[in-house]
Parts: sequence; structure tokens; C-alpha cells
Amino acid sequence: MEILKNKKVLQDFIERQKEMGKRIGFAPTMGALHEGHLSLYKAARQENDLVISSIFVNPTQFNNPEDLEKYPRDTQRDLDILEKSGLVDAVYLPQVEDIYPEKTESKKYNYDGLEDEMEGKSRPGHFDGVGTVVEELFNQVKPNNAYFGEKDFQQLAIIKKMTEKKQLPITITGVPIYRAENGLALSSRNQRLTEERRNDSRIIYETLLKAKEWFKTLAISDIKEKVGTIFDNKHNMELEYFLIADEKTLKETGQKENGNSYRAFIVVNVDGVRLIDNMHLD
Ligand code: PAF
Repeated sequence: MEILKNKKVLQDFIERQKEMGKRIGFAPTMGALHEGHLSLYKAARQENDLVISSIFVNPTQFNNPEDLEKYPRDTQRDLDILEKSGLVDAVYLPQVEDIYPEKTESKKYNYDGLEDEMEGKSRPGHFDGVGTVVEELFNQVKPNNAYFGEKDFQQLAIIKKMTEKKQLPITITGVPIYRAENGLALSSRNQRLTEERRNDSRIIYETLLKAKEWFKTLAISDIKEKVGTIFDNKHNMELEYFLIADEKTLKETGQKENGNSYRAFIVVNVDGVRLIDNMHLD
């Protein structure tokens, strides 16, 4: 596996690969790699000649400085995981100045309103930070295909929108959520939970499964009430939001309409760790 330590080294590498006509699959990450990331690389392997990943903890997408500080960073561990997986041909480890040559700040994006929903409300500026880093990485890596997890479903929709609006010649693929045996969606943040709390957190997945079942017969307001009750009595767990949204616009819906697709979205704080999950409903 090639380790590309800065933009110059990356660009030379990409130029050589493009000359050889290689199709590049790309999965950007912020490190703290887990099975969820490996599932992105597996999807990329099937459709490309070359799989590239990047590890960069992007400062502009953290609206909370404490979250940025606490974000797990262990590059050697990540490189060992990548090497052992045998799924990745090259990993790009940009320096901050490779992504932000001048100021470390976001550009402003208009994602046709997708940015105003859910995480956009809870984390102001977050999606400008994501758009900025992903657009820059796309420009440098020049992939044919790029892969993102459905766990961050709104991020995936926003990156698709950005790619379409900027007319970038890249196909964006969403990869299904990778879950632990108890159903908890894998996330780098899970490392911050004790084993007991990780086990308790299976309730998030169980709640989504129940919501999917209730969605067949109950009104959306009743589903929301039932979900609220589940978390009312839970110590160490605080439901930040649960809602059902149109899968295309990501706007919260109060009533099902025929012909639309819906998805349930949930955010729960467990001992101060913010866990996010979602599930397609119909
Ligand atoms: O999903 C992530 O890990 C990040 O938001 C991404 C897409 C790598 C951008 O920093």
C-alpha cells in the first residue's frame, strides 16, 4: 500500500495512474477506522482498478471544539488496519495546508435546502465544512467513483447534490450501514463508550426496527410519541431527535403520501456521546 503524505506526492501518483487508464474508487475518512470503513473499500474494490482512501480529521466540520479535540486519532493503528485488510492500494494523509493553503475555513454551499434539515439545524456550519473538504479531496484525487456510508445519510445526500451542482464527473455510491452484532451502527465515536453503554445503545437500532413496523399502521405523530416514551425512562441516554422524513428532500413529514419514500432518523446522546442512525421505512 502506498502512503501519500502530501498533495505533491498524491498528485504525482494520480497522474501516473491516470496515464495507465486506471479507474479510481475513493473513500475519504477521518480515521479511527472500523468495519464500516472496510465495507466502503469492499464496495470500491468491485467497481474500480484502484482503491484510494484518505485520512484527515477536518477541523472545519466540527462546530464543537471539544468534539474536534476528543476525536480519536491514531494514524499508525489506521495504517495497520488498512494494510492488513488488503483492500486499499493507496492512502492519502494530507497536511492541513494541503487542504487549506490559506485560511482554515469553509466555503459556503447551497445544497437546495438539504443543509437546513436535521444535522444542519443541530450542527451549524457542519455541511459547509464537509462540502469544502470533500470538494477539495475530489479535485486532488480525481476519482471516477466515491463511496460514503448511509449512516450519515444526510451527508451522503449533500455530497450527491454538491457533485451534481458542481458537475463533477464522479459517481457517488451510498454503502449500507454496517452494524455490530447487537445492531449498533458502527461509528468512530463508539470507541468513547464503555462496553456497557455500547450494549445499552442497541436500543437505538431496536427503536428504528419498531418504528419501521409501526409505520405500516400508525400515524407518524403516534410513532413519535411512542419513540419518546422509550427514551423517557432511560438513564444516561437522551433522545435529541427522532423524525420521519421524505428520503429525497429530507424534510420532516407529518403524514405519509403515496409514491414517496420515507426514512426514520434518530440522534441519541449516550453519556455525552452523540450517536446517529437511520432506517429506510417502506
Ligand atoms: O464521514 C466522514 O468521515 C467525513 O465527514 C468525511 C466525508 C470524510 C469528510 O471529512
